[in-house]
Amino acid sequence: MTRTARPLRLLMCRPEHFAVSYEINPWMDPARPVDVARALAQWDGLRATLEGLGHAVELVPGGPGLPDMVYTANGGLVTPEGTVGARFAHPQRAGEQELLDAWLTGAGFGPVHRPVEVNEGEGDVLPVGEHLLAGHGFRTTRAAHGELARVLGRPVTSLRLVDPRFYHLDTALTVLDDDPDHPDVAYFPGAFDEPSRAVLRELFPGALVTDEATAGVLGMNAIGDGRHVVLSPRATGYARALRERGYEPVPVDLSELLRGGGGPKCCVLVLRG
Ligand code: ARG
Repeated sequence: MTRTARPLRLLMCRPEHFAVSYEINPWMDPARPVDVARALAQWDGLRATLEGLGHAVELVPGGPGLPDMVYTANGGLVTPEGTVGARFAHPQRAGEQELLDAWLTGAGFGPVHRPVEVNEGEGDVLPVGEHLLAGHGFRTTRAAHGELARVLGRPVTSLRLVDPRFYHLDTALTVLDDDPDHPDVAYFPGAFDEPSRAVLRELFPGALVTDEATAGVLGMNAIGDGRHVVLSPRATGYARALRERGYEPVPVDLSELLRGGGGPKCCVLVLRG
């Protein structure tokens, strides 16, 4: 099958204030200092790669004391039906909300719905064609799914995450193609409970099912545009499987940002107009 890329508009935040100074997921170890210069160079590489693929990158300035703001995926959910801001599960990230809401409003994506329930944006909520897949179990709550459905007027498919290493939906599932006519995803079944796996099998019978070796290097945290998949260079088996499926894997090394528990997808918030 011929795969066609769709240009994306992406919000990113340069990791000038990056650090691992607290531990809110199993990938983080505050005892090991991070190399900020290296994080910046790797992030610059991601940005250049995305722009080289034809995507538009917008920048939100980070803030001191907000080391995780580089992971803009968690900053909200922007869809044609409306924008929902983030409400972080951990107080360490709460300061990001105001900066992100202000940016989104200023850029014309407002009004930003300020959620009542804990909601970590596109980290846990992924539009795929007509579906709005939403994770819960670690960060975003199940109640937030109801809030999203109400605010956006769209049904939400709830999926329960059960492995703490895969604490956001975007660490367990990649949206390869968001086209409503041929939506396509890849996922690691071990990250979900059995009822959620059944839902995924039913919605996406032809999905690419990945393994522990892929998910264990945060390989699922990849950016798909319908043709290219920007992913970790460690996810070699995944890259092979994607190529067989007609996609073009584009490896980008973000090893320093992996130490905060994030890969390429965590670093972008898709701005859907
Ligand atoms: N340190 C961040 C946190 O635990 C990493 C967020 C990764 N983002 C993502 N979309 N998975 O909140």
